[in-house]
Amino acid sequence: MASTKAFIFASFLLLLSLFVNAFAEPKTNHSTLGPHCTSNPPSLNASSGAGHVEKLGSLNSYVTGSPKSKHAIILASDVYGYEAPNLRKLADKYAAAGFFVAVPDFFHGEPFDPNNTNRPKDAWLNDHRPEKAFEEAKPLIKDLKHKGFSAVGAAGFCWGAKLVIELAKLKNFVQATAILHPSFVTLDDIKEVKVPLAIFGAELDKQYPPELIKQFEEVLHSHKIGYFAKIYAGVKHGFTIRYDVLGGVSYERAMEAQMDLLKWFIKHVK
Ligand SMILES: *[C@@H]1O[C@H](CO)[C@@H](O)[C@H](O)[C@H]1NC(C)=O
Ligand SMILES: *[C@@H]1O[C@H](CO)[C@@H](O)[C@H](O)[C@H]1NC(C)=O
Ligand SMILES: *[C@@H]1O[C@H](CO)[C@@H](O)[C@H](O)[C@H]1NC(C)=O
Repeated sequence: MASTKAFIFASFLLLLSLFVNAFAEPKTNHSTLGPHCTSNPPSLNASSGAGHVEKLGSLNSYVTGSPKSKHAIILASDVYGYEAPNLRKLADKYAAAGFFVAVPDFFHGEPFDPNNTNRPKDAWLNDHRPEKAFEEAKPLIKDLKHKGFSAVGAAGFCWGAKLVIELAKLKNFVQATAILHPSFVTLDDIKEVKVPLAIFGAELDKQYPPELIKQFEEVLHSHKIGYFAKIYAGVKHGFTIRYDVLGGVSYERAMEAQMDLLKWFIKHVK
């Protein structure tokens, strides 16, 4: 009798676990680019924006804003790179608020090209690892400091978030950091963060769902690191720069996030 009960109970547990697994979030792989990282590509335009391209450190960079400002911001792009008009428009917006803004070409003229079937995502990524870009970002930031920018902030979008999180692990190097709908960033990365970090999550981002952003937030809170964390409702991964320019929810949320990021930098990069 007892063993029948035990058997029924065990069967019940098994069914319960099958049920729970069937409805659990699919496991996501944080060492690769998700499909949403490359969806909705921008039309690149090398002459877009109010600024110009010049060398910073060893990298061509789109720069905009007064070189006399003491405060600089680096925007680390998503896979589509520094010729994306919406990203340059964002740089110009922060320049108008008093910052000198640089958008480096971490891809050396080779942003991801979804039309190039000879070079699928993983092959492209192998040649353009954010870890390598982090090594190139360091001399670029030293160059900015050398030019008289006493405070530097860095924000990374999707692919760019990983190199920014590496910068955030360095003490006294940049003053504030931000990651927007990140890729590659893990909870272990967040545990090593030493400077203020803002996290911009999209409610519908499958790779970085609100629960994971919440975990990031809890780590920063317990480590007493200054932070800002917000989930933007009704939008997908990429929304802060790959929004619909004609308007709608993605546009509204993008403008809201861009303003939140500006406030973050005004507060911390001074
Ligand atoms: C995650 O993606 C990387 C790069 O594509 C791959 O090497 C690795 O095997 C994947 N890991 C899992 C658990 O799927
Ligand atoms: C590229 O940007 C420049 C400068 O804003 C603009 O004049 C030109 O029309 C744009 N080209 C395309 C194809 O949108
Ligand atoms: C890819 O090809 C499509 C169709 O020809 C074109 O509209 C688009 O601009 C191309 N994208 C890139 C990034 O070159």
